[in-house]
Amino acid sequence: MKYVSHATTHFRRFSARHSRIITDIIYDNTGKRKQRVPLDYSSNWRYNKCNQPPKRQKERDIKMNDFTEMFSLKGKIAWVTGASYGIGFAIAKAYAAAGATIVFHDIRQELVDKGLAAYEAEGIKAHGYVCDVTDEAAVNALVGVIEKEVGVVDILVNNAGIIKRIPMCDMTAEQFRQVVDVDLNAPFIVSKAVIPSMIKKGHGKIINICSMMSELGRETVSAYAAAKGGLKMLTKNIASEYGEFNIQCNGIGPGYIATPQTAPLRETQPDGSRHPFDQFIIAKTPAARWGNPEDLQGPAVFLASDASDFVNGHILYVDGGILAYIGKQP
Ligand SMILES: NC(=O)c1ccc[n+]([C@@H]2O[C@H](COP(=O)([O-])OP(=O)(O)OC[C@H]3O[C@@H](n4cnc5c(N)ncnc54)[C@H](O)[C@@H]3O)[C@@H](O)[C@H]2O)c1
Repeated sequence: MKYVSHATTHFRRFSARHSRIITDIIYDNTGKRKQRVPLDYSSNWRYNKCNQPPKRQKERDIKMNDFTEMFSLKGKIAWVTGASYGIGFAIAKAYAAAGATIVFHDIRQELVDKGLAAYEAEGIKAHGYVCDVTDEAAVNALVGVIEKEVGVVDILVNNAGIIKRIPMCDMTAEQFRQVVDVDLNAPFIVSKAVIPSMIKKGHGKIINICSMMSELGRETVSAYAAAKGGLKMLTKNIASEYGEFNIQCNGIGPGYIATPQTAPLRETQPDGSRHPFDQFIIAKTPAARWGNPEDLQGPAVFLASDASDFVNGHILYVDGGILAYIGKQP
């Protein structure tokens, strides 16, 4: 009688669902592996689409001096959306320092020009384009241009984002939609546009810039929290759906970072005191400070590099400890 192990049963169920697995294993009655049986994977849409079996990750024997190489982005093309300034710019700068070629875009030409000048001032030759991330046709066209002019994107950072601070009952549905469009629909549109080429290339890294609001609620940011919470789940879903193609999709959840987006929350009050929100953040953050865009550079390089090849579907909160802390007893 043929013995079929518990593991084999699972394997077969898995094979039936994911028919790209090309062999099955038969065990004899002693539990010894006997033969491999080829499975028919011709009906697999993903196999047909990329016209080659998914590539396996390279096996690595880690030695101490491999560590620098493991974090290197040499030869990689990194596209950071909305990266003329702020967090996206800081992340792109770190990628360039790690060896990557930088592609960025922004919504208006003057922002792109400002970004190009800023990269140049840092000694970085970046490729800048104008594109609205919410416009699917424009994003698809831009991917074609990037692939032609620069090459296939290895690393995508969905960074472009907006926030509207309006009490929920005063917010119009149109305003809510605008935020969801940029902060959630756009990462879907841009990721979808690069994934097929990543599959063909055999690898890809997608990093979604989430937020504390992917986990927490707060007054006046209903649309932003809904979008960033959704982005956390889109991250997990991309990881689930495309992990088998050696694509890792993770998120970074910045804490409160001093950028133009959060500048209104740090404005000095007419009486010279700190903005109440500023005081609140200092009290809520174990690190007792706002973050800088540079605080996100190390985590962003890690998630873009080979060092994170088995990290998939996570949100890495870079928040000075806010999410770990219940706050001081008044
Ligand atoms: N600053 C923070 O404290 C903080 C905290 C958590 C998360 N974030 C997130 O980090 C990301 C970057 O934040 P930031 O503070 O640098 O923001 P920012 O406003 O300074 O920069 C966002 C960039 O996205 C671009 N952009 C906006 N709409 C666009 C569109 N439709 N098409 C193309 N580009 C568009 C902007 O022009 C800008 O260059 C955002 O996703 C934001 O939600 C920021």
